[in-house]
Amino acid sequence: MTTRPIAARPPMNIVIVGHVDHGKSTLIGRLLHETGSLPDGKLEELKRISERRGMPLEWSFVLDSFQAERDQAVTIDTTRIWFKTRTRDYVIIDAPGHREFLKNMVSGAAGAEAAVLVVDAEEGVREQSRRHAYLLQLLGLRQVIVAVNKMDLVGYACDRFAAVQAEITAYLDELGIHPLAVVPISAREGDTLTRPSPHMTWYEGQPLLDCLDRFVPSSHPVERPFRMPVQDVYKFDHRRIIVGRVESGVLRVGDTVLFSPANRAAKVRSIEEFGSTVTPVEARAGQVVGITLDEQIFVERGDIASHAEHAPILTNVFRTHVFWLAHRQLAVGDRFKLKLATRETPVTVHAIERVIDTDSLAGGKRDAVGRNEVAEVILRSREMLALDEHTAATATGRCVLVDTYETVGGGIISMRGYPDQRQALTVKATNITSVDHLLTAEARALRNAHKGGVIWFTGLSGSGKSTLAMQLEKRLFAKGWQVYVLDGDNVRHGLNADLGFSPQDRAENIRRVGEVAALFARAGIVAITAFISPYRADRQRARTAAGDAFHEIHIKADLATCETRDPKGLYRKARAGEITDFTGISAPYEEPEAPELVVDTTGASIDECVSQIAAYLERLTVVGTAAAAG
Ligand code: ADX
Repeated sequence: MTTRPIAARPPMNIVIVGHVDHGKSTLIGRLLHETGSLPDGKLEELKRISERRGMPLEWSFVLDSFQAERDQAVTIDTTRIWFKTRTRDYVIIDAPGHREFLKNMVSGAAGAEAAVLVVDAEEGVREQSRRHAYLLQLLGLRQVIVAVNKMDLVGYACDRFAAVQAEITAYLDELGIHPLAVVPISAREGDTLTRPSPHMTWYEGQPLLDCLDRFVPSSHPVERPFRMPVQDVYKFDHRRIIVGRVESGVLRVGDTVLFSPANRAAKVRSIEEFGSTVTPVEARAGQVVGITLDEQIFVERGDIASHAEHAPILTNVFRTHVFWLAHRQLAVGDRFKLKLATRETPVTVHAIERVIDTDSLAGGKRDAVGRNEVAEVILRSREMLALDEHTAATATGRCVLVDTYETVGGGIISMRGYPDQRQALTVKATNITSVDHLLTAEARALRNAHKGGVIWFTGLSGSGKSTLAMQLEKRLFAKGWQVYVLDGDNVRHGLNADLGFSPQDRAENIRRVGEVAALFARAGIVAITAFISPYRADRQRARTAAGDAFHEIHIKADLATCETRDPKGLYRKARAGEITDFTGISAPYEEPEAPELVVDTTGASIDECVSQIAAYLERLTVVGTAAAAG
């Protein structure tokens, strides 16, 4: 067997963030010096510069001199500054300007694993400190150390440190970031960087470098789940070779590979490496290989190969933190070509959730995104896509937006609030054959004098779904109809008692109810369903299950109205943070695009609304007395 050794562990990638004047550059310069990582002659050069300028040695000159070297080079938009401690190597990812820094962070190019947030002991937490912390949160960076810098300027006072520490940890706490350590330092004087400072004997924690060594590295790409985006499929005589770069994990001959989004699997017959005479038995992260399969399943460029146990997410709606580059604005409804690994597919901007100004990093709700702004955007594609959370897999967790031929934005993917639809799309059982009924739908309809149907109510909690469903059921029953309400709160006590309100559980809730309702309809019964059913894709699947019998009715009331009604007191709890993932407050609701009927319950009475729906349902009535035989 030809097993390659795992490559040496990559260095830990960190970023140092903070308000401009709080000493970031000084800290970097000093860290390089303290760890013996300055290039030969650099210290002497710095001393000379300082003397010439008649100033004390300024550690931030280190960065200035790097910048000068960079200015002469071709455009590189990130710098990687290396240093090492006793334990490992570090790379500080830096960029010449605030903007470039943000762009790299957001596009995922930087790939930082942890961050040091620098706060000035004298000035305390400033707006920019908060915004940088917010950016860390946005990008999913949770490993943070706070360095309270310039302790020399506050006389190394313990109480000043305690005050700044309390202020910053309170803010980070709100963001869900719990710093590994808060360290009082003076970058200029070298206090508490590599060893305890004689000026701050009251500080009981570790020096900064020892704290850095406690950051936990992200796993090596080889240790992560296998991903190979398909670049090409070559046909050689009767064989087909599927070519791609293994982005993470390991693939072995004999493994079953799953291709997404098609959701088809086959066994690997061979792995072929170009320019190699031996036939490898495995392919590891970083290699470009070709594979052949034991079965001729359809595979095309853009598919993502994985193992079945760790498959990518399947979805047609997802969230992305986009860095917008174009001169023209990005707006809801815009269409782009999305490039995700090797796939290119059209997408539409469904919503702009938040726009973050990159100068101020202030976030807010806006309708359009301007050049160089970062925005949290919901994108929707017509076809199902295979992708990953960027925190789980980098290559399949980021995307690029292209308008005609121009790259207009780049971003990282997050599924917060949206479910993986794989479960709803996968049929596990094999060897199953449908059995035909001996009765027709017409026969059942004639017996009942109405057709079966799925009357699918969707709307926010408190919009009136259950109330209207129960009244409608009563009214139709009085007319002699076979009718039954499937209600969210009721079904969740039984059939769906195992489900909660995570995006995944909601999708499963609706999948099951969609199937059950379709069975009711096929049995000739009118099933009225009262579920929030917040995702379009789930409602679409319920529609597919019931076919023509499906009628989507949007029970419409705006959030403010629902919140005022608050029949179960849940909105109040959600606002108080006692319920997480509450639809409309902290979880999405996707309005229907083309429902069969919209019933606005804001101004109308219950009776009026029920009459409106009953009138619509007249179309299910079957007149005739022909023999009800199949
Ligand atoms: S759905 O989103 O999966 O379609 P469903 O209609 O079954 O939801 O259940 C919604 C009902 O559950 C609401 O009317 C409310 O009474 C209750 N509920 C409890 N927690 C939540 C929550 N986090 N979000 C929405 N509804 C909730």
